[in-house]
Amino acid sequence: MKVIVNRTYEDVSHSASQYIQTQIKHNPHSVLGLATGSTPLGLYKKLVMDYRAGHTDYSKVSTINLDEYVGLSKTHPQSYHTFMRNNLFSHINIIDQHTHIPNGQAMNLGEECARYNRTLELLGPPDILILGIGENGHIGFNEPGTSFNEKTQVVKLKESTRRANARLFSSIHDVPKEAITMGIESILSSTCILLLATGERKNKAIQQLLEGKIHEEFPASALHLHPNVTLIVDESAYNRDASPRQSFNPAIYE
Ligand code: F6R
Repeated sequence: MKVIVNRTYEDVSHSASQYIQTQIKHNPHSVLGLATGSTPLGLYKKLVMDYRAGHTDYSKVSTINLDEYVGLSKTHPQSYHTFMRNNLFSHINIIDQHTHIPNGQAMNLGEECARYNRTLELLGPPDILILGIGENGHIGFNEPGTSFNEKTQVVKLKESTRRANARLFSSIHDVPKEAITMGIESILSSTCILLLATGERKNKAIQQLLEGKIHEEFPASALHLHPNVTLIVDESAYNRDASPRQSFNPAIYE
């Protein structure tokens, strides 16, 4: 795993945006795997700014998102459909039919998972997959204990994850208890994975990722099984006592 330590959240967002813009220039038909949550917001802002400056064309790009809450409609203010529309899709020239997000309101969730797996197969592996990380090490909504051999699946959200995401809902009672997520096997099928982590809140998870064992109780550790993962962190997520601060801006550790 390559580790890039940037000074601030802004720098992390900038670094990640460079990867995506370069990828699309190299292949206008790129497939991007996308995450939601607070972490990639800065990245999406950078992509929108770059698009408005006329630098990147998304007309041939396809996207496939990691996950969606079960039970929320596409227009629910906290659905990941709404998140993606508000923060990225409606600001760039991507074609609506080229964007893919699980349907959290599907009548038959098992069929929806199978449909999403077929979509992934048809698109081919994401050229770049953007990931955030939960404080408990989840990636996508693959909570601790998830098998590394799952494709798209319905998962029960841990109470800690529901509490962490409650900030976006009126109360914790409104946070859905389940989600549909790309499984770890699907995540690992991506050609290149960018894991973004920022803020002190992620400090322990990053330490465990970099120093702990590969284990299903810490889902992000599966990323060590992939040959092309880059972790981009800011100082506060990386902040480890042993590291000299002057080597931070930006440093690359392999
Ligand atoms: C979201 C997702 C989650 C988040 C993680 C971190 O699509 O897959 O794994 O990346 O919960 O969330 P934030 O960025 O809000 O700290």
